[in-house]
Amino acid sequence: MQTNSDHRLHVAIIMDGNGRWAESRGMPRAAGHQVGADSVRAIVSAAIEHNIGALTLYAFSTYNWQRPSPEVAGLMSLLRHFLLVEAPELQRNGVRISVLGRRDRVPLGLARAITAAERATVAGTRLHLRIAIDYSARDAILAAASDGLTAEAIAERLGTEDVDFLIRTGGDQRLSDFLLWECAQAELYFTPVQWPDFGPTEFDTALADFAHRTRSFGAIPA
Ligand code: IPE
Ligand code: IPE
Ligand code: MG
Repeated sequence: MQTNSDHRLHVAIIMDGNGRWAESRGMPRAAGHQVGADSVRAIVSAAIEHNIGALTLYAFSTYNWQRPSPEVAGLMSLLRHFLLVEAPELQRNGVRISVLGRRDRVPLGLARAITAAERATVAGTRLHLRIAIDYSARDAILAAASDGLTAEAIAERLGTEDVDFLIRTGGDQRLSDFLLWECAQAELYFTPVQWPDFGPTEFDTALADFAHRTRSFGAIPA
């Protein structure tokens, strides 16, 4: 399915369900995160094939610091590894990587990998891959806000475009403080499929669903 001609979509995904995926198989939660990283690779490739303009992935929220420290450490290391290993290939494929969220609380190795990946891929125009790490939408809005700001100025300071389509895997139907501003008019899609099982076929199904939505933006649909 090719998604539109002129406006390139911004798709956002709350990649949820890694832990339950692993636990239901008698595996440690870390195994779910590992397999979840494979889903990320596959979905990034599929996004390129679909000519999607921007893909924003929720990888670690500010609330996730409350998890046991071994799980947090594993996630930080997985993210660092992902950026180090994938950046060269993504660069070759014309993908630009940006990371949103706080940088001052992640391990130094991850912070360095983020900067390196962003620098190496800055010229990419085929897909803007945005990864949210230590991210809270409320924090992002607060940081962007000050007196007398217009909506346009806030959007510019947030450094992001409106989301067209938001997908959440794992069965829960909530935003968990993800892209609150940007999802003002987003179409929402919730699926019980856990993130490690979410592959290009499930992504196709979601995008096909989006293609049938009527977006009215408060007006009377044509
Ligand atoms: C999403 O999967 C990944 C992160 C939040 C880091 P979870 O780890 O939240 O998996 P569940 O929701 O416990 O199954
Ligand atoms: C949302 O998932 C954050 C990410 C996917 C990174 P969580 O599993 O952390 O969210 P809650 O706890 O269900 O709200
Ligand atoms: Mg979860």
